[in-house]
Amino acid sequence: MIWPMEIAKTVEDVRRAVLTVRANGKRVGLVPTMGALHEGHLSLIRRARIETECVVVSIFVNPAQFGPHEDLARYPRPFDEDSRLCRQESVDLVFAPDVSVVYPAGFASFVAVDGLSDRMEGTFRPGHFRGVATVVLKLFNIVAPDIAYFGQKDAQQAQVIRHMVRDLAMPVKIRVCPTVREPDGLALSSRNAYLSPDERQSALALSRSLFKAKELIESGERDAKSVRHKMRSVLESAPGVVLDYSELVDHVTFEPVREISGSLLAVVAARVGKTRLIDNLPIDVPMKN
Ligand code: PAJ
Repeated sequence: MIWPMEIAKTVEDVRRAVLTVRANGKRVGLVPTMGALHEGHLSLIRRARIETECVVVSIFVNPAQFGPHEDLARYPRPFDEDSRLCRQESVDLVFAPDVSVVYPAGFASFVAVDGLSDRMEGTFRPGHFRGVATVVLKLFNIVAPDIAYFGQKDAQQAQVIRHMVRDLAMPVKIRVCPTVREPDGLALSSRNAYLSPDERQSALALSRSLFKAKELIESGERDAKSVRHKMRSVLESAPGVVLDYSELVDHVTFEPVREISGSLLAVVAARVGKTRLIDNLPIDVPMKN
């Protein structure tokens, strides 16, 4: 462990710290984040703390993954509180680079995971996954983690990263941790801070639609069209919710499924007021006997 917790701003500082850890034969875990840390992020940090000897948390609001009309400028950046939480969770190193460190003048190299990146979230956020994959690849190159931790909350993102790691034979293990929810079902997200009390109430329709799908399938419904229809009804009954998509997809390809079988994912994205939220729920369909 590195004690007290270090805050690194440059690539060289991270490399120096991690090199010493590695020389002692210790494993390095990386939790990439954009900050505004909540229990969802902390669940990844805790998993990393259990599985690796040196936990690195990156905090970087990555401009390359935001569209021109998205919330890059107003994305919350409570750095002091984030560092306090990291210290509390016994993080070893926080990597909080400036934009110019990650994207120096003349930066021109990007990585894209074709196909997968163009579906669901990709349709509504063109270029988003290219920005995510590029920054994650760069973070992997800087930190060289043994294990990197991602949340099921952003299921398609996790799948894009897995795909990239496989395609490019990157020497890192990817762990995907379960979605942390509020007691009423709302998935934790840094963007929940934008919601007014009424909007927060309406936002519950997202998780409710997913649990509805799971409940229907678990009680024997096998008509995908009917499940989609019922998910949509839940979303349409909530005031101020504008749906981007609500689907049953294959958990690997993110293609909409025709049949209800195997491992599925119910996915949803909607705008609640000015806030865009996403959520998903894995559903394992029992085999017929
Ligand atoms: P951010 O939204 O800060 O999320 C960082 C990590 O926390 C992601 O892997 C995300 O899936 C996970 N996470 C968020 N909410 C969660 C929840 N309620 N339960 C469990 N895990 C949750 O995702 C990003 O940042 C960025 O795209 C990043 C990967 C850092 C690249 O810029």
